[in-house]
Amino acid sequence: MGYARRDGELCADGVPLERIATAVGTPAYVYSWPSVREQFARIDTALAGIDHRICYAVKASSNLAILARLATLGAGFDIVSGGELERVLRAGGDPGRVVFSGVGKSTADIDFGVKCGIDAFNVESASELARLESRARLLGCKARMSVRVNPDVDANTHPYIATGLKENKFGVAPGQALELFSRASASPDLTVAGIDCHIGSQIADVEPFEAALAALLELVDTLDRGGISLDHVDIGGGFGITYADEPALDIDILGEVLRNNLAERPLQLRVEPGRCLVADAGVLLTRVEYLKPAPAPGHRNFAVVDAAMNDLIRPALYQAWHAVEPVVESGGTPKRWDVVGPVCETGDFLALDRVLALNEGDLLAIRTAGAYGFAQSSNYNTRPRVPEVLVDGEDFAVVRKRETVADVLRLETLG
Ligand code: LLP
Repeated sequence: MGYARRDGELCADGVPLERIATAVGTPAYVYSWPSVREQFARIDTALAGIDHRICYAVKASSNLAILARLATLGAGFDIVSGGELERVLRAGGDPGRVVFSGVGKSTADIDFGVKCGIDAFNVESASELARLESRARLLGCKARMSVRVNPDVDANTHPYIATGLKENKFGVAPGQALELFSRASASPDLTVAGIDCHIGSQIADVEPFEAALAALLELVDTLDRGGISLDHVDIGGGFGITYADEPALDIDILGEVLRNNLAERPLQLRVEPGRCLVADAGVLLTRVEYLKPAPAPGHRNFAVVDAAMNDLIRPALYQAWHAVEPVVESGGTPKRWDVVGPVCETGDFLALDRVLALNEGDLLAIRTAGAYGFAQSSNYNTRPRVPEVLVDGEDFAVVRKRETVADVLRLETLG
């Protein structure tokens, strides 16, 4: 299950990656469904004994094939747009298991969510609460809401993916959360459902989650004393994984901490993991186009591959490190290579300074690319987006075709 070498060749489950590259070309994203399923089961097991729901953060990898399979496992979904809600519905997901996050929900998105009867709007400002209330009234539906609290907890992660500090745009301060709850509970158009936070992404320590939960539970108790009772507490996602050699979040310890803190409380726990469900399950396949070895000492060796920053922006955007492995070890003398793409930007690299034995034409797997890989890809440099392939055991299927240049130009006119 997942990625392993068979007779020296890297395979996704039972399928050699070279076979997939031959069938669909490169670059291409490949996902192992059994590996996602196994991660889902790991989280589920870690939370055993707690009434819980795993709401997959759709933004991490939003292909319908993955959403549909997660829905059959009983997953809920954390969405951030009407588009993501549409995906969940098309994948057969239950809107009653959807939570809607984000600081800038549009009126159209709110209306869509209200009409579908989603489980909770995670409200992030007083203005959003007012808009939600007025739209629900207009539509003649009662909207379920929770307040996203910004607990001002340091998640100790990359500044671009920290979200739970008071200087971040997300959520509302605890004091304001109480005001929003009291307004919502007085409204005939809203149902107070839960309390929520999401403090950041790629968090390795349990302590920030514990601190955030403590801040939420303090509010739950204050609300309780004021006669407002909630049905769930949502601690968001952000469960850290290993890309290089950094420690991953210990999900079992997190489960233990959550069990201890939630025992005896009549609250359902919601978690919103994205990355840790899908990152390890994915690779980006790319072929070496040209080798440009250093012409003289002090210069660098460049391996120009056919994937670029538009296909996987994480290295350029977050200084992220992804392992790079030749699918078949071709031998030869290892050198230090910068693995770069064809895009006209110096920031267009997938990996820097990696010791690899490379030949032109080699197939490479950029590992741990299943989360925020394809989902953050773009058409920069008019590069059609690459296909997505889902592997299940011995079989694979193209679950998103490669775009053509015609696809990319379809919505443009000469004006
Ligand atoms: N819930 C909310 C409200 C979120 O904003 C996010 C991610 C998640 C859950 C899921 O977090 P996860 O479990 O995947 O860490 N593009 C960046 C990550 C951005 C995360 C944004 N929010 C990256 O490639 O590292």
